Amino acid sequence: MESDKKPTPSADDQVAGDRAPAESAPAVPAVESAPARPTPAPGGTPPVKTEIPSGTPPAARVAPGAAKAAATPTAAIAKGIPKAVAARQNPTTVVEATTDAPVNKMRRRIVWASMAGFFAAIGLATMRFFLPRAIMEPSSVFRIGFPGDYSLGVDTKWQQQFRIWVVKNSDRIFVITAICTHLGCTPDWKSSENKFKCPCHGSGYDSEGVNFEGPAPRPMDRANVSLDAECQIVVNKDRVFKSEKGKESQFDDEGAYLPA
Ligand code: FES
Repeated sequence: MESDKKPTPSADDQVAGDRAPAESAPAVPAVESAPARPTPAPGGTPPVKTEIPSGTPPAARVAPGAAKAAATPTAAIAKGIPKAVAARQNPTTVVEATTDAPVNKMRRRIVWASMAGFFAAIGLATMRFFLPRAIMEPSSVFRIGFPGDYSLGVDTKWQQQFRIWVVKNSDRIFVITAICTHLGCTPDWKSSENKFKCPCHGSGYDSEGVNFEGPAPRPMDRANVSLDAECQIVVNKDRVFKSEKGKESQFDDEGAYLPA
């Protein structure tokens, strides 16, 4: 008696059965992609495709329309379209947009240099504003050497630096401040005339600074002198000795002179 039971397929048969439809499936022919159609410009005529021979060098691979387009951005810029926008619309202008003319570089350097100079001037002016406006004067106390360094008469070597004259006579050394007692000008020593002469209003002083002509009201003042530990002459212009009308002269006071 034949059994109606069909034999149970083995696992291999099942795998083979699963594969069978795939192997037996008819091959679907590949769909050929449609040739890319050039997109017509909105509102314009479609671009004309131009065949370029394979042997053409890269530099010459420019379609006739490209040459025309290369000139277009310049016209667009002339119409007011920014250069960057014109370059985006037509890539052939990229080279023109990125290159910088030497004139532009020079102009940019000049602008930067001008700005740097401007801000440097402002910085210096600001610093100067906060600095004290003090007049740098030489110290009023200074040394002028040894008494033996001076010979008889008037020595003018310290006139420029300290505005004084050193006078040495037979018995003393003293220092005259080179300030006219009229209005404060600096008189000149006239060795040929043995006198000081003020160039402002003509006051005249003898070799010891005593006035004898012109509007000067009194002799020129004398500065304090002393000797330091090395026996050098120390002058102190902060302390002066005067000889004024109606008052006792201070020229013989201690410190007004040094014994010669
Ligand atoms: S300032 Fe010297 S004479 Fe007037």
